Amino acid sequence: MTQIELRGVQKFFGAVQVIKDLNLKISDNEFIVLLGQSGCGKTTTLRAIAGLETIDEGDILIDGKPIQHLKAADRDIAMVFQSFSLYPHMSVYENIAFPLRATRKSKSEIDQEVRSVARTLQISDLLAKKPSALSGGDMQRVAIGRALVRRPKAMLMDEPIGALDAKLREEMRAEIKRLHIKQGSTTIYVTHDQIEAMSLADRIVIMHEGVLQQVGSPDEVYSRPANLFVAQFVGSPVMNVADAAVAETASSVSVTLGGAAAGFEFPQALLSKLNGHAGDQLALGIRPEGVLIRHDAAKGFLPVETQIVEPLGSFDIVDLKVGSKMLRARTKSGFVSGPGERVFARIDPAQAHFFDTASGKSLGVRL
Ligand SMILES: Nc1ncnc2c1ncn2[C@@H]1O[C@H](COP(=O)(O)OP(=O)(O)OP(=O)(O)O)[C@@H](O)[C@H]1O
Ligand SMILES: [Mg+2]
Repeated sequence: MTQIELRGVQKFFGAVQVIKDLNLKISDNEFIVLLGQSGCGKTTTLRAIAGLETIDEGDILIDGKPIQHLKAADRDIAMVFQSFSLYPHMSVYENIAFPLRATRKSKSEIDQEVRSVARTLQISDLLAKKPSALSGGDMQRVAIGRALVRRPKAMLMDEPIGALDAKLREEMRAEIKRLHIKQGSTTIYVTHDQIEAMSLADRIVIMHEGVLQQVGSPDEVYSRPANLFVAQFVGSPVMNVADAAVAETASSVSVTLGGAAAGFEFPQALLSKLNGHAGDQLALGIRPEGVLIRHDAAKGFLPVETQIVEPLGSFDIVDLKVGSKMLRARTKSGFVSGPGERVFARIDPAQAHFFDTASGKSLGVRL
C-alpha cells in the first residue's frame, strides 16, 4: 500500500524556479508517467520524491506522512536511471543481490529473492555474467531487477529505456507494463516520448516549464486536452490549430479559419456550448483524423487544394491549404494522388476543440 502525494512543491536552482506549485496525488499501485519536454522539471520532481534533491516549499507525503525531511535511504523508494548504473566488477547475480546485503536476510533468502526477480525479468541465464557482456536491454533489465528486489514502497524510473534503440524500446515497454501488472507497485515513470507515456500510463502528468498542465488517463489527455500546450504536445502528427471566427448563419454556424474565404459548417449547438465566448478570440483545434476529405462536392464540404502528401505506410497525411493556414488531414493511403489536387474538406464537429487564445485554455466544447 503506497500512496504518494505532492502538495505545493516548489523548487529553485539559484534564482530559477524549476518546479512551480506542484500538486499531485498518486494512488496505490498506480502507474503514473511524467511527460514533458527537456528541461521541464521531470527529473527534478523524481529526484525530490526519491530524496536525492531537497525542495524549497511544500510537502511530499507517502501514505499521508510528510517525508521531505527523510534521507533518501530512509524513504524506501527505488530509482532506475537512463544510464545503466550497474557495478561493473560484480556479476549480474551480485548486482541484483546488492541491495539485500545490507538487510538482515539470510544467504538462502537472498538467493531465493534474486532468482525469483531474475525469473520475472527473464534473465536467469545471465546471472553469472558481468555487465560488460550484456546488451543494453539486458543491462536495463538487471537495473530494474536490482530496484525490484528489495520490494520498495515505490519505483521511480527516469527514462529507463531512453538509451535503447527503437525496436528494443518497444519490447522493453511491453515488458515494463507486464511487470507492473504482475508485481503491482506504485510507479512514477519519466519520459519525453508520448507514445511511451500513452502505452504505459494509468494517468499521464503533462508538465511544461515546471508547471503541471494536465493530469489524466491517456484517453483524457488525447481527447480532452485542457489547453493548447497539451493539445499540441500529445498526438502525432500534431493537432491542427488555427484562429477561428464563429458566425451564425441562417441554418447553422460557420467557423472560418485564419483569413479563409469561407467557413466550415458547424451545428447550431456550438453557440450555446461556447457559452458566451463565441465573439472572443478563439482557436480551433482539430486532429488530422478530424479533417474529413472527399473527391466530390457535398453539403458542408469546402473546396481545397492538396499540397504535400506524406505517405506513412498504413495512412497518408495530406496538407490542405485553407486561407492562410495549412490543415493536415489523415486519409487512407493513396486517397489523393499528390499535390495540386482539388478535393473537398470539412471539419468533423464532434472532433473539434475550441480554445481561448489569450489563456490557451480549452473551452470544453463537445459536440
Ligand atoms: N543541479 C542543478 N543545478 C542547476 N540547475 C539545474 C540542476 N538540475 C536541473 N537544473 C535545471 O532545472 C531544469 C529542469 O531540469 P530537469 O533535469 O528536471 O528537466 P527534465 O524534464 O528532466 O529534462 P530532460 O528531459 O532533459 O531530462 C532545467 O532547466 C535544468 O537545466
Ligand atoms: Mg530528465
